[in-house]
Amino acid sequence: MAEIDTTAPRTVALADGAPLVVRPAAVADAPAVAVIERALALAGDGMVVAVDQVRDATAEAHRIDAMYRGWSAGDASMIAVAALAGEVVAHASLRQLAPARCRHVGVLAIGVAATARRRGVAAALLGYLVDHAAAWGLVRLELTVRADNAPAQALYRRLGFVVEATRARFVRLDDGRYVDDLVMVRFLPAIT
Ligand SMILES: CC(C)(COP(=O)(O)OP(=O)(O)OC[C@H]1O[C@@H](n2cnc3c(N)ncnc32)[C@H](O)[C@@H]1OP(=O)(O)O)[C@@H](O)C(=O)NCCC(=O)NCCS
Repeated sequence: MAEIDTTAPRTVALADGAPLVVRPAAVADAPAVAVIERALALAGDGMVVAVDQVRDATAEAHRIDAMYRGWSAGDASMIAVAALAGEVVAHASLRQLAPARCRHVGVLAIGVAATARRRGVAAALLGYLVDHAAAWGLVRLELTVRADNAPAQALYRRLGFVVEATRARFVRLDDGRYVDDLVMVRFLPAIT
């Protein structure tokens, strides 16, 4: 567990001056998170999860609630949200792997509402999770991204992630076409 509190809310000024609040999700955010995820799945661009597989608000609430119990047990996993003028516009997650020999590994995922993109929301939200992961001693951060998802790859490269591997034909689209998937990774300095 970190000595400094990396779970406190953070306010970030976006390039256009708007204050973005980044913080751990509360159970009350579950409906907003579910709405964003459903819209992303419906749009389909770059996504792997299909609309009928998206977690509903109840499942999101359970997931968020479990995060707080995890912290008490020393687990760094976090679901974070970003809010503009009180409205949740994005969410992201850090999942610390469970096996004892992989506890230094965290898996990231993110989604930003279409109306809030290209303002720095994702960069701020992932920066919050990366700082949290570093403070909790994680060393390897990884994520997967479809090879045809150029915006997300640009975001991750900008944040220092590099492509480690290609999972060929990992995704099969509804029309039967296959798409490759990339594993991207960023190492954090080990805090000993
Ligand atoms: C990918 C995604 C998370 C980016 O969110 P965002 O809030 O728009 O990203 P930011 O504004 O923080 O962008 C930070 C940087 O990432 C890169 N980037 C983000 N979107 C980009 C785009 N559409 N085209 C090119 N570069 C892009 C740029 O370098 C950008 O910096 P800049 O705006 O100063 O040029 C968002 O488009 C999204 O949610 N997409 C659908 C879901 C998804 O693909 N999730 C990831 C699955 S792996």
